[in-house]
Formats: sequence, structure tokens, C-alpha cells
Amino acid sequence: MEIKKVGVVGCGLMGSGIVEVCARAGYDVVVREVDESLLAKGLERVRASLLKAVARGKATQEQADQALSHIRGTLDLADLADCDLVIEAAVENMAVKKEIFAALDGLLAPHAILASNTSSLCITEMASVTKRGDKVLGIHFFNPVPVMPLIEFVRTILTSDETMRIARQFGASLGKTMVVAKDTPGFIVNRLLIPYLLDAVRLYEEGLATREDIDTAIQLGLNHPMGPLTLLDFVGLDTTLYIADAMFEEYKDPRFAAPPLLRRMVLAGRLGRKSGKGFYEY
Ligand code: 3HC
Repeated sequence: MEIKKVGVVGCGLMGSGIVEVCARAGYDVVVREVDESLLAKGLERVRASLLKAVARGKATQEQADQALSHIRGTLDLADLADCDLVIEAAVENMAVKKEIFAALDGLLAPHAILASNTSSLCITEMASVTKRGDKVLGIHFFNPVPVMPLIEFVRTILTSDETMRIARQFGASLGKTMVVAKDTPGFIVNRLLIPYLLDAVRLYEEGLATREDIDTAIQLGLNHPMGPLTLLDFVGLDTTLYIADAMFEEYKDPRFAAPPLLRRMVLAGRLGRKSGKGFYEY
């Protein structure tokens, strides 16, 4: 089986990045959003990112135009029916994801693979509402998708060798490096990243150092591209809290327990870059 057409469900920050890298790799891409305004916003994000890639010499104008010509937006899930692979990148809500997986399972051809870009939710639970558990896996991208070179594959106890083989072929065609993890909350990256980010909030909360000094220490002392509080603003405090809560729920390990400050900042609407204010102002 060869993947020719890719469906993406959700055109938010992650979904639009996934659409972009698939279109740049030459796949026909259909992306579905829930309303016109979110779809227009998402497709505009793809256009802006391709423009940036051209400005940075990462793509020619012709390649960017070609990529755009491969992308079609829709509000109707049924328009994804002839896709060979669908990557779900909708909101991090299990009920919503199960609804999407069940609907797609009824629409797609028997050979098609169903994937989720979830960072914390159980892939096996999504597979459980389909009749194609062997063709379900996690394909976890990192933000910003066009720049970050990694894909984390999440293999459940149902995912077949053949599905993993096709997924690897697909990942390689996007130019990404791939790792495989079992279906456990956080997989590899977030299992290590989330306790680290939560600890940074705890240090700030207890007044060990200023936010700038915490970030500078890690950025220059460990050569990370961003310090942890800047990274929290970048990922989104709400997203981080959501992942931490999901991991704590499963593991009951205090390393994943969100510090009070993080929860209160989210309640106060300080979500990071997306809301204009988090640990820093934007
Ligand atoms: N397309 C292609 N390439 C692009 C691009 C685009 N749209 N936009 C930028 N680039 C390239 C640039 O040309 C540059 O490449 P070069 O190093 O070869 O010149 C490189 O990407 C960096 O771009 P910028 O110069 O614009 O930006 P910065 O140097 O300031 O880096 C950053 C920005 C890449 C976001 C960097 O700060 C970084 O890596 N931060 C950490 C990001 C991170 O950790 N992400 C993971 C978050 S966790 C996650 O996603 C998991 C989830 O489950 C929570």
C-alpha cells in the first residue's frame, strides 16, 4: 500500500504544520476544520509559514506554490473518504477524538491508516471505537512542525508490523527522524519534558531566581534553544497543564502534579504566546 492522499483533521497550530509538511513532500492533502473562520485562519498559517520558508531560503517560491496547490480545505469529514492516511490533530478531548475516529472508520477504505497527533491521550482507546485497530497508531509531531525534525510513533498492542512499515516510509518521505514508543501517557518526549517544565514553574514559584535567570541558565548553561518558562509560553500553559493532568491521572506520580501557580495562570487566562501573556508578555 502506498500513501498518496493524506487527510488532516484540525487546522490549528499542529494541524496546519502537518498539512504544510505533507504538501511539501508532494502528498495531496485534505484538511477539515469545524467552521469557515478556523479553516481560513489555519490555511493562512500554512501560507505564512511557506512564505517564511521561502524568505529563509528553505524553499523556492515555485515549491511553495506547488505545496499550496496540493492542499484543499473542507468542513465535511466525508471529503476525507479517499485518503490513505488520516492524521487527527483536533482538540485534546477524548470524546471528540473518539467521535472522529468512529466516523472516519466508517468512511475510509479498508486499507487506510488512522493516526492521532495527541500528546497525552490513549491511542488504544481511540483504536477501540474502530474496526481497524491494527491500522491505528500515534504520529506525534513537534511544534513548529516544519522546523522540528522528530516524529514520535506510538504503537499500541494492536498496531501491526505492516502499519509501522508504512508509517516509517511516510515519516522518511517527510524528511523526519523517527522514534517509536509504547502507548503510555507522554510517550518519550513529554514523559521527560513535562516534569522538567513543572519543576521550572516550582522554582519560579518558590522565588529561587527570576524568570529571566531561570531561562538564561538553561539556555546558556545547557545550550537549549529556549529556557523552560519561554518554552512553556511557546507550548501554551493550558496545553502543558492538560498533558500534566492526563499524566498524573494515569501515573499518580507527584512529578506530574501541576504546581498551583500553573493552574492559576491558566485560570487567569495567561496561556502564553497565544493569549499575549504567560510568564512573559508578547
Ligand atoms: N519552514 C521551514 N524552515 C523554517 C521555517 C518554516 N516555516 N521557519 C523557520 N525555519 C527555519 C529557519 O530558517 C532556521 O533554520 P536555520 O537554523 O537553518 O537557519 C530555523 O528554522 C530556526 O528558525 P528561526 O531563526 O526563525 O527561529 P529561532 O532560531 O528563533 O528558533 C525555534 C525558533 C525553532 C522555535 C527554536 O526556538 C526552538 O527550537 N525552540 C524549542 C522548540 C521546542 O522545544 N518545540 C517542542 C515543543 S514540545 C511539543 O511540541 C510537544 C507537544 O506535545 C507539547
